[in-house]
Amino acid sequence: MEPAVDLQLITGDITVLDVDAIVNAANSSLLGGGGVDGAIHRAAGPDLLAACRLLGGCDTGDAKITPGFDLTARWVIHTVGPVWQGGGAGEPELLASCYRRSLAVADEAGVEHLAFPAISTGVYGYPVAPATEIAVATVRSTPTGVKSVTFVCFNDAARTAYEAALA
Ligand code: APR
Repeated sequence: MEPAVDLQLITGDITVLDVDAIVNAANSSLLGGGGVDGAIHRAAGPDLLAACRLLGGCDTGDAKITPGFDLTARWVIHTVGPVWQGGGAGEPELLASCYRRSLAVADEAGVEHLAFPAISTGVYGYPVAPATEIAVATVRSTPTGVKSVTFVCFNDAARTAYEAALA
């Protein structure tokens, strides 16, 4: 059994982190967007979009990897979170799948240090408290070779929610 993943919490911009891979909260086209998706594409440069075009999209709850190009991080793991529809359309299971699949893809790539944004809690409207609880519980319960996971907060609401979920 691998040792438990070391969990870190920071507030800031995921695109500047010196980690092996950052996770992107993408949409199913993988062709960019706003929020963290837009920030990552801006920081990685146009080669990221070119690489994403070759992936043929990504299902909700799945994750696919590309190089990080101009980012400090070597890899970007693109995952597609569920759009919040009230909680009765399988959103919790799909969000958990984003974290599980991102960890699996990271493990396959030999990633040791991975950073996640708060997937689905922006444009996709997932309430922050349950979303961060799912993030922490899923990372804690998924066997992986990843050694450390950093949850990146971009606002105080996410920070407060993660602190509660990690307590
Ligand atoms: N670094 C870290 N976190 C960030 C950054 C950043 N530079 N920019 C935004 N965030 C945070 C948001 O504050 C939010 O907590 O990332 C979290 C996810 O929000 P979104 O980026 O809106 O992603 P999501 O809710 O999953 O919606 C995905 O938005 O950008 C589009 O193409 C994307 O269609 C997709 C949808």
